[in-house]
Amino acid sequence: MARPQSRYICQACATSHLRWEGQCRGCGAWDTLVETVVREPSGRATRASHGAGPSAARPLRALAAEDVERRPTGIEELDRVLGGGLVPGSVVLLGGEPGIGKSTLVLEAAAGIAGRQGVVLYASGEESAGQLRLRAARLGLTDGPAADAVHVLAETDVERIVEAAATLQPALLIIDSVQTVTLDELDGPAGSVGQVRETAARLATFARASRCPVVLVGQVTKDGSLAGPKTLEHLVDAVLALEGDRYGTIRVLRAQKNRFGSTEEIGVFEMLGAGLTPVPDPAIAFLSRADPATSGRTAGSVIAATLEGSRPLLVEVQALVAPSGAGNPRRTASGPDANRLALLVAVLGRRAGIGIGGDDLYASLAGGLSVAEPALDLPLALAIASSKRDRPVDPSTVACGEVGLLGELRPVIGLDRRLREAARLGFARAIVPSAGPVPASAGLGSLEIVRVATLREALDACLGTGRERAVQPVMEGTR
Ligand code: TYD
Ligand code: MG
Repeated sequence: MARPQSRYICQACATSHLRWEGQCRGCGAWDTLVETVVREPSGRATRASHGAGPSAARPLRALAAEDVERRPTGIEELDRVLGGGLVPGSVVLLGGEPGIGKSTLVLEAAAGIAGRQGVVLYASGEESAGQLRLRAARLGLTDGPAADAVHVLAETDVERIVEAAATLQPALLIIDSVQTVTLDELDGPAGSVGQVRETAARLATFARASRCPVVLVGQVTKDGSLAGPKTLEHLVDAVLALEGDRYGTIRVLRAQKNRFGSTEEIGVFEMLGAGLTPVPDPAIAFLSRADPATSGRTAGSVIAATLEGSRPLLVEVQALVAPSGAGNPRRTASGPDANRLALLVAVLGRRAGIGIGGDDLYASLAGGLSVAEPALDLPLALAIASSKRDRPVDPSTVACGEVGLLGELRPVIGLDRRLREAARLGFARAIVPSAGPVPASAGLGSLEIVRVATLREALDACLGTGRERAVQPVMEGTR
């Protein structure tokens, strides 16, 4: 068999180069060459990542029965994000910053699968067997069914991992992490785009041929992207991201892509001494844990009624407006979208008379959550205005609504669900857009619904126009 060779292929125009160059000679694009294994026609075709498996065409009816098969991990929050469990033959990429809890989560998933559904092969190039044992002990997995059924392999050569998996025939193969495994034939170092892409392709071929689901753990680089993100993203069936404030305890699992389920569902965990533990009541996980006596009385804090997938979450939005010392005022968002923040600053200035042009502005969400949905606009704008005017918003108030460029409020999806959740948690008042259907009163208890048409009206309702609104103490049990 001819020896496989590597070439540098331009990702923009597919011109092949013998060695790496900064600029493609085919199309002139910069930084687009990726090392790729090329095989002589006589070689085995291992690159055909999607071509493995039965080659005979089958009717749709025959496919449907197979597609619903899932292997639940037993971790409800993970299964919810996966869309019910791992699908045989699928490849899942789990990304996250170092230290966020990826290895912990996959080991817990391994323990959930092991025993009940067969053995699990955990290939680790990242940590020694000793370190893995320490983590397993922490999670209480060194005895019980998982202790026998989770097999650990300290190996980085992808062919040898695949060989071991072919022998063991596990119900799940975990690669921790994809940046540490290499393909022997490839020159590039572990973690380079070429290696990551080719090893992932090899593992995907294995997954599809053996119907063993494969979970790839991926380290996220500083700028927030996975190494070789574009090549990996279309190669795998699902991309999950574990996020959160590294110095806090709450972690959010999100699907950025999922061929087998919705990308809207999130899983909420808490990192405790004994591992990642599902949060029993996620709706209140993102309310600030600060002393309720002070947090509700400080200007700049507003509770947002957000919706993640089918799940309503009440999130504390915080804003701080402070006179800027420098010529260019700072605008920092951690959690809210930075572009949305800039837009709200402009709308507040032009449509609601709250100009913060020369001030620094910091905005954040409690618990390290990031929320992209437009319903966060109104609570964020209220928090900014509250901080600028140094007037607190009643802490038993929640708000949601999209803000338009004219300062008008647009309806949000799932308003009833958001309001029912706020009522359940004992909030007294909800500021919502008057556009859209009138919320159903069922299940709202004594929650007062204030429907407003514009940002200005919302500000009047929350911060008052001249007359102070008495700040009431936080309701018992809301924090
Ligand atoms: P880890 O899963 O190793 O993160 P990653 O694989 O994403 O790099 O977990 C990292 C942190 O989690 C580590 O700082 C210790 C902490 N941790 C706990 O707080 N409790 C636990 O039970 C475990 C296993 C880890
Ligand atoms: Mg790890």
